[in-house]
Amino acid sequence: KPYVIGIDVGGTNTVVGIVDKRGQILRSGSLKTAKHANVEDYLDELAEVIEDVIKDIATKEQIKGIGAGTPNGNYFTGSIEFAPNLRWKGIIPFAQMLEERVGIPVALTNDANAAAIGEMTYGAARGMKDFIVITLGTGVGSGIVVNGQLVYGHDGFAGELGHVIMRRSNGRVCGCGRSGCLEAYTSATGVARTAREYLELQHDAKSQLRNIPIDEITSKDVFDAAMAGDEMAKEIFRFTGEMLGEAFADFVAFSSPEAIILFGGLAKAGDLIMNPVRESMERNLLPIFKNKVKLLFSELKESDAAVLGASALGWEVR
Ligand code: BGC
Ligand code: NA
Ligand code: ZN
Repeated sequence: KPYVIGIDVGGTNTVVGIVDKRGQILRSGSLKTAKHANVEDYLDELAEVIEDVIKDIATKEQIKGIGAGTPNGNYFTGSIEFAPNLRWKGIIPFAQMLEERVGIPVALTNDANAAAIGEMTYGAARGMKDFIVITLGTGVGSGIVVNGQLVYGHDGFAGELGHVIMRRSNGRVCGCGRSGCLEAYTSATGVARTAREYLELQHDAKSQLRNIPIDEITSKDVFDAAMAGDEMAKEIFRFTGEMLGEAFADFVAFSSPEAIILFGGLAKAGDLIMNPVRESMERNLLPIFKNKVKLLFSELKESDAAVLGASALGWEVR
C-alpha cells in the first residue's frame, strides 16, 4: 500500500495530509477543531475531510494507515485524555472512533511527539539521536527522543514538559487544573496573559498595546508591537524567553540532548524569543552542559512536521 494519512489535531485547527513513501504531502485539507463542542460532530467532519484528501489521488484500499497527533494523545491506548486545550473533556477513544468512521486503521500519539518524529525523519533533527522538541502554541508540548527513540514511558504520556511547575507560589492557574505551569506563561495564551498583567500593573508605562481592548490582546499583537520597537512588548518576550531558558536548562539535565528544537507559532518570533532563551538557558545550565546544547528552530513548514510525523505512524499500524 503506497500511501498513509497524517493528521495534526490542534486546539484551533486540524490539518490532514495524504503522504507517499518519500514523505511528500500530496494533498492536504483542514477543518476547525474549536468549532465543535461535540467530538462526534468533529469526527464526522474529519472523516469527510479525509475522504476528500484521498479522492483523486488514491483509493481507500491503497492507504496503509492513518496516524494522528493530538494534545494529550496516548499512543498505547489510542485515546485523548483530559486535554486542557480541547473542548472535549474526559477520556475519548479517538483512534477507535475515527477508524469506525473511515474504515482505515488509526494510530495516535501526542501532537508534540508527532512533531518530534517529523523533525527526526524530515527536519532539523535528521541524524540526531538525542533531542527534545518543544511546541509553543495554544499549549506547550514536548517530544523527547533518547537514543533515537521517542520516550513514551510506562503508560504512554511521557514528555508533558509544558506542565512542569515554574512558580511554586502565586502561580497562574493552568488549563490542567494546577498552578504555575510553564504553559500558563509561555504558550501563546500565556504571552497574552503576561501582556494583560503588564498593562494593568504598569499604569504609567506607554505601549501601543494600550490601543487594543485588553481582553482581545493576542500573542500576535505582542509580536507586532515588539517588531515595531515597543518597549513593553519586547520586555514581555524577554520575560517569556527567560522562563523558557530556565526550564530548558532543567530539561537538559534530564536527558542530555544534542539540541532543543522550538516548533510552533511562537517560534516565529525569531530572535525576539531566541536571544533571551539562549542567554537564560546558558546561564542556568549545569557547568558540565554549558555551550554544548544547540537551540534550533523547526526547519519544516508550520504544520508539516506534525502531519509528517503523524503520518509516519500510519506505516506502523497493524
Ligand atoms: C498538553 C500536551 C500537548 C500540548 C500542545 C498541552 O497542554 O498537555 O499534551 O502536547 O498542550 O498541544
Ligand atoms: Na509528548
Ligand atoms: Zn498545567
